[in-house]
Order: sequence, then structure tokens, then C-alpha cells
Amino acid sequence: METELEQIENVKKISAGRHTIYQGDCCEGLKMIQDNSVHLIVTSPPYNIGIDYGSYKDTLSFEQYTTFAEAWLKECFRILVNGGRICVNVPFTTIFGPDAPYNLYYNIMRKVGFKSRELIVWVKKRKCDRQFLRRKPYFGTASSFNPCIQYCSEAILVMCKNTFNLNGFNSDLTEQEFLKWNYSGEHK
Ligand SMILES: C[S@@+](CC[C@H](N)C(=O)[O-])C[C@H]1O[C@@H](n2cnc3c(N)ncnc32)[C@H](O)[C@@H]1O
Repeated sequence: METELEQIENVKKISAGRHTIYQGDCCEGLKMIQDNSVHLIVTSPPYNIGIDYGSYKDTLSFEQYTTFAEAWLKECFRILVNGGRICVNVPFTTIFGPDAPYNLYYNIMRKVGFKSRELIVWVKKRKCDRQFLRRKPYFGTASSFNPCIQYCSEAILVMCKNTFNLNGFNSDLTEQEFLKWNYSGEHK
């Protein structure tokens, strides 16, 4: 797989200790990964709100955007093991309204076949402080003419493939470690 990944156009290889990061088009890279071979996928896809990412165009039509999302999510479903988790970080609402992208991703992920496991709400303290100071909704249109909540949190949809349980998986976490790391409150 390593050599195949390197053959994709414009792929950058970054070594980080025991791990290697391949930076490139995920739609191409995912195709190189075997079926049922990945335990965890964590991603923050583009939100299609016109952010300047350089080469990637973040202003697709709604149809193009949903086709793109469905294509890479289908690949993710294929490569995930049964009981594996996919975590998709998206905002609750965007400039387009409440149907994109949280609800949009929920629906596409369910359509692709994932089972919904849980929802993590990521409260971004720095963002809350900043938004409180600026008090401006998306893209500076501060007006009560179009009232809407400015979220200072984002959603992380956690879903799994076919079963909730990872069968035959031998974890090296102790019970103490598991309890500590799956606790949703703040650690002191
Ligand atoms: C919402 S941002 C995520 C940012 C990321 N969480 C971070 O902290 O840098 C979406 C990212 O997806 C990247 N992207 C868009 N299309 C892609 C593709 N086909 N393959 C890989 N990355 C892509 C964009 O360039 C952008 O960096």
C-alpha cells in the first residue's frame, strides 16, 4: 500500500516517529486501502462555506458537495472494520442554514450504511470568547433581521460499521485507563 500511495499525484509523505502521514487527495488515497482494515477514522471535511484552502474549491454547488461527501464516506465505510469508528467533525449549522452540514452528514452517513453511535459536542472556549467580543454572525452580517445563534461548539458525529462491538479486539488499555479516557467531563 505504501508504494501505491506514493504513486498518487502530488502526494507528500511526512514521517512522524513510527507513523507516516500521506498528504494528498483522500478520494485517491482511500482507494489504496484494503477493505475492512481500519479501526478508526477521524476527519474534519471542508464545510463548503467559501474558505480559501488554496487548491481545493470550497464553493461547490449543493449537489456537487453532497456527491463528494457521499463518495469519500462510501470509501470510509468500505475500509472500516466491523465495529470500527468514524468520527466526523462538522459545525451544527453553516451560512446555508441548519440543514448543512450536521444534519446533512448525519443523513449521508446513515445512507452509506453507518450506524449512529454517539454525538460529541466540542465546546471551543477560544471561539466562544472571540464571538462574545465580536457579536457578529457568519461573515460579519450582524443584524437582527436574520436572527440566528452563533454556535461556539461543533459536532463530532461518531458512527460505526455494522456492529457496536469490535469483535476479537484485544485492547491493551487497563480498566482504569478506559474509565479515565471515556469520561466526558473535565479531568482535573
Ligand atoms: C474544515 S478543513 C479541516 C481543517 C483541519 N481540521 C485542520 O485543523 O487543519 C477541511 C480540509 O479538507 C481539505 N480537503 C478538501 N478536499 C480534500 C480532499 N479531496 N482530500 C484531502 N483533503 C481535502 C481542505 O484542504 C481543508 O484543509
